[in-house]
Amino acid sequence: EIHRASTTAPVNIAVIKYWGKRDPKLNLPTNSSLSVTLSQSDLRTHTTASCSPAYPSSDTLLLNGSSQDVTGARTQACFRELRALRKSIEDADSSAPKLSSYPLKIVSENNFPTAAGLASSAAGFAALVRAIANLYELPASPTELSRIARQGSGSACRSLFGGYVGWEQGAAADGSDSVAFQVAPASHWPDMRALILVASAAKKDVSSTSGMQTTVATSSLFASRAAETVPRRMKEMQNAVQDKDFEAFGKVTMMDSNSFHATCLDTYPPIFYLNDTSRAAIKVVEAINTAAGKIIAAYTFDAGPNAVIYYLEENEKKVAGLFKAALGEKDGWAGQRGDAVEANGD
Ligand code: DP6
Repeated sequence: EIHRASTTAPVNIAVIKYWGKRDPKLNLPTNSSLSVTLSQSDLRTHTTASCSPAYPSSDTLLLNGSSQDVTGARTQACFRELRALRKSIEDADSSAPKLSSYPLKIVSENNFPTAAGLASSAAGFAALVRAIANLYELPASPTELSRIARQGSGSACRSLFGGYVGWEQGAAADGSDSVAFQVAPASHWPDMRALILVASAAKKDVSSTSGMQTTVATSSLFASRAAETVPRRMKEMQNAVQDKDFEAFGKVTMMDSNSFHATCLDTYPPIFYLNDTSRAAIKVVEAINTAAGKIIAAYTFDAGPNAVIYYLEENEKKVAGLFKAALGEKDGWAGQRGDAVEANGD
């Protein structure tokens, strides 16, 4: 017999960036971070997890139709943690099927370019962990699942919650307190919008994992970012979300993106994620805000040249409209609009 469960997990885009690990094995970060979970209709991973005593002996993972290596430490850590939780159910109830001993088959589909700095690993590991948790009928909370997903990819822990989500860096050596938490549900500030501008769908040249390790080892800007700048901005950002203060939200978002990319440039050898198209987007946002006389649009960039522009629904015409006019498809931009939404738990 085959046991099966499916789920979807959304992409999240950080407004306070995670960049740096104090423990690369457990993906424990050097600073807390905060993100907005995007609409599942635009950017999400759909994953089906199944297991059967009849499957060939090893676990398998198919992503967008191509077979992936599951022997990596991160995927193994997720499988191991989830199997251990299932095993304790089986040990407590002898009638429970011994799913933990069956090979797993994971089938995932992204509806967006993989590894192009569009947070694919975040949605990917969040979906993988929740699909297996559903398959195993684990009573695990989103917090518990975030602790497991973090070991797959740090940013994945934030995709277990909807709306405005923090990731507490934690202090424990075993990572037990390095988990995601909801700052506010999407319904608290439902008119938040995200415009995703794809400058390039090519795979990024420096992966976040290796980039952040080099930054920690070589950047002199990094220490003050982790120790002072980010802790202060985490408070400012949580207040901005609580107060629905877009000007504060936008300012901190842009400044934290700039700080992260400055730290990348300060890395040796330097890391360049932004390109001329990215810088053109920054200028358009500046022009929009100058014309409005206040901050109504905010850009942020992850480990790649693609821009995410946050704005409020009431400014849709001024922001998304102007953006499309200023940077048409001719410049290589493909726009996509996402709303902040709840992550669903099914
Ligand atoms: C720039 O979560 O991809 O998007 O933990 O090594 O898998 P690993 O890194 P990853 O890094 C994300 C970096 C970022 C900022 C962010 O999402 O907070």
